Amino acid sequence: MKVALDVLARHYDAIAPTYDAGGVEHNETMWRHTSTNVVCNDADIDHDDVVLDLGCGTGNVARTLAPHVRRVVGVDCSARMLDRARLGAPKNCEWVWGDLRQPPKVEGLTIITANYALHHLDREELRTIWRWAQRVLPPGGKLVIGDLLYSVPPEQVEGIEGWMDPALGEYHSAWALMKELEEHGFQAVLKVLHPVIGNLTAMRL
Ligand SMILES: C[S@@+](CC[C@H](N)C(=O)[O-])C[C@H]1O[C@@H](n2cnc3c(N)ncnc32)[C@H](O)[C@@H]1O
Repeated sequence: MKVALDVLARHYDAIAPTYDAGGVEHNETMWRHTSTNVVCNDADIDHDDVVLDLGCGTGNVARTLAPHVRRVVGVDCSARMLDRARLGAPKNCEWVWGDLRQPPKVEGLTIITANYALHHLDREELRTIWRWAQRVLPPGGKLVIGDLLYSVPPEQVEGIEGWMDPALGEYHSAWALMKELEEHGFQAVLKVLHPVIGNLTAMRL
């Protein structure tokens, strides 16, 4: 299912003020924070890296990586989420309003990150992202994803009610995406954080 950009923007504009307020005591937020940390760690950055963060939201990934890389560009469709990302952000961060399905051109790009953003895309849209990433990354460049990716079918997992709004996105199979990334010229490694949360680090061959 393809979700219209204005629907996503309206949803995230509305929740932007409280998006980062949920503490780790809230199960869902705790897993999102864990995934953020895994994405930042597995990006395995270098000070020369140039990062594009897809669906950057309030900038949790971008702002963590920025002090250790040359430049970070965050793209998001929610102006209110971007307003929060801008607050106190390092000088080498740039924020772009737009659709991550038509990502901005970033000179010297070496790493693409996407934390909890790609579940808003359907499989066809994801395949377009893999093709684009394969084209724009240099060999050795990385696509690092953390998201609601299942290794156990969600209907068999307890305690995840409300984690996915079916009007806004869908669970994807972590193993199926890993296979697809390999078919698109990446070497991919999957980390299963939870039965429905996974991190994929895909290196462009
Ligand atoms: C759950 S939030 C994740 C934010 C951030 N990556 C994080 O880890 O905290 C998803 C973000 O993706 C953005 N997003 C979803 N689909 C998008 C699209 N097609 N184009 C641009 N941004 C999108 C939303 O506006 C939202 O800020």
